[in-house]
Amino acid sequence: FPPVTENFAGVIHGLNASHLTDLVIQRSKRMILDTLGVGLLGTSTEVFHKVIQYSKTYSSDASSTVWGHLDFRLPPLYAAFVNGVAVHSMDFDDTWHPATHPSGAVLPALIALSEALTQKQKFSGPDLLLAFNVGIEVQGRLMRFSSEASNIPKRFHPPAIVGTMGSAAAVAKLLALDPFKCKEALAVAASYAGAPMANVATPTKPLHIGNAAKHGLEAACLASLGLQGNKQILDMESGLGAFYTDYAPQVLPTLKSYSWLLDQQDVAIKRFPAHLGTHWVADAASSVRKHLVKGDNSLPINGIEKIVAKVPDVGYMNRPFPNSEHEARHSFQFAVCTALLDGSISVQSFSDQNISRPQLRELLKKTQLEHPPDNKPSFEILYCEVNVTLQDGNVFSERCDTFYGHWRKPLSAEDLKKKFHSNASQVLSAEAAEGIMETVDNLEKVEDCSVLNAFLKGTQSAKVLEKICSF
Ligand SMILES: *[C@@H]1O[C@H](CO)[C@@H](O)[C@H](O)[C@H]1NC(C)=O
Ligand SMILES: *[C@@H]1O[C@H](CO)[C@@H](O)[C@H](O)[C@H]1NC(C)=O
Ligand SMILES: *[C@@H]1O[C@H](CO)[C@@H](O)[C@H](O)[C@H]1NC(C)=O
Repeated sequence: FPPVTENFAGVIHGLNASHLTDLVIQRSKRMILDTLGVGLLGTSTEVFHKVIQYSKTYSSDASSTVWGHLDFRLPPLYAAFVNGVAVHSMDFDDTWHPATHPSGAVLPALIALSEALTQKQKFSGPDLLLAFNVGIEVQGRLMRFSSEASNIPKRFHPPAIVGTMGSAAAVAKLLALDPFKCKEALAVAASYAGAPMANVATPTKPLHIGNAAKHGLEAACLASLGLQGNKQILDMESGLGAFYTDYAPQVLPTLKSYSWLLDQQDVAIKRFPAHLGTHWVADAASSVRKHLVKGDNSLPINGIEKIVAKVPDVGYMNRPFPNSEHEARHSFQFAVCTALLDGSISVQSFSDQNISRPQLRELLKKTQLEHPPDNKPSFEILYCEVNVTLQDGNVFSERCDTFYGHWRKPLSAEDLKKKFHSNASQVLSAEAAEGIMETVDNLEKVEDCSVLNAFLKGTQSAKVLEKICSF
C-alpha cells in the first residue's frame, strides 16, 4: 500500500481556495443552503429538544449559536452536536453516492467553530467553502476504499464513519493545521467512528450526524493541542479498515491539478423528509394514482385488490406497518400508500395522525414488496415500479428511474430556494431566512462568515447586514 494517511494529511493541508472549481462552488453552496434549511426546520423536532436539554448542562462557557435560538448559546462542541442532530432529525438532509449524508457532518462543526473563534480570528466565505469541501471530499474518497460501501449499507451507518473523518478533516482545514496535525486529527477521529445500522428508523439515528460533527471537531481540536494517534490510520486493516471487509485505501489526486469528487458526482436533495429510497417510490406511486382517482380526486380504496412495489432488497426499509415517524421515514410500504392516498408526500405526512389513518392502514394491508434481481440497492441504479391491481381485473403500473431531486435530475435553483425558505421560515423571520439565502449565494465574496450565525439565531437581517456584510 502507498502511505495513504500521510498523503491525505498533505492534501488536506495543501488544498487552497484556488483549487475549488466553479461547479464545486456552485454545488456546495446548494448543499450549504439546503443543510441550513432542513436543520432549521429540524430544531422543532422531539429528538432535537432532548439533545438540547442534555447539552444545556454543559453550557457554562457558552459561545456558539444554536440554530433558531436567540435566547441561549452552547460551547462549540455542543452547538455542533445539537445543530447536527437538527439537520438529520427528519432524514431531510442531502445524500451522496456512494451512500452517505455528507453535509450535516461537516457544516454544523465549521459554523460553530468559526463563530467561537471569531474574537481571535475572522473566517471568510472562501475559508468556509474550502474547509466544507475538504470535509465533503474526504468522505467521498473514504467511501471509495470499499466496494461494499457503494451500496446502501448493511452494518455501519456511513455518516458515523466517513462523516466523523470528514468533520475532522474540515475542522483541521479551518484551523490551518500542519500536515502532521492533520494526520493526528484523522487518527483521533477514527477512534470515535462507527454506529450500527440497527438504530436506523429509531430516534437515535439523528445522533449519528450530530456525533459525527461533534466528534470530528473534538478530534481536530485535540490534534491541534498535540494529541497523537496511529500514524497509518487510513492504511491499516485495524485502522479505518476495521469497518469494511474489502478495504483498499488509495491516495488522493495531486495538488497540481486537484480533481474534486463533487465535480464528478453531485448530491441528491430531498423533497420530503424520508430515506432517499422512498423518493423513487413516491414518484412511481403518484403517477399510478393518476390512473385510479375518481372525478373528486379521491382514491377508490375499496376497488383496490393488490398493490405491488418493486424495489431493491433493503431489509431496513421493509416495514409493512410503521408505528412511529422514524419507522415511517424508513418504510417503502408507507411511501407507496401515502403517495397513492394523497398524491404526494410532505412534512405533514409523518404526523402521528396521518401515520395511523384507517385508510392508510387499509392500503398497507394490500401492499407487497417484490425485489427483482436487476433492482440493486444502489442510489445510482435503483428504480421503483408500482403495480396496482383492481378488483375488476385492471392493472395499472408506473415506473420511476430518476426522481426529481436526484443528481441526474437536480432540483431547480428556484425549488431549492423555495424549500429553504419554507423550511427556515418555520423557525426564523422571513428576513433572517432571506439573509441566509443572500449570504450563501454570495459566499465567495463574504468577508466574515459569522454573519451566517447572526441570521441563524434569528437576528433581524437589516441591522446585521449593515454591520457585517460587505458584498
Ligand atoms: C395529513 O397529511 C395531509 C396531506 O399531506 C396534510 O394536509 C394534513 O395537514 C396532515 N394532517 C396532520 C394532522 O398533520
Ligand atoms: C405489473 O404491470 C406490468 C404492466 O402492466 C405487467 O407487465 C407486470 O406483469 C405486472 N407485474 C405484477 C407483479 O403485477
Ligand atoms: C419544507 O420544504 C419542503 C420541500 O419544498 C416543503 O414541501 C415543506 O412544506 C416545507 N416544510 C414546511 C414545514 O414548510
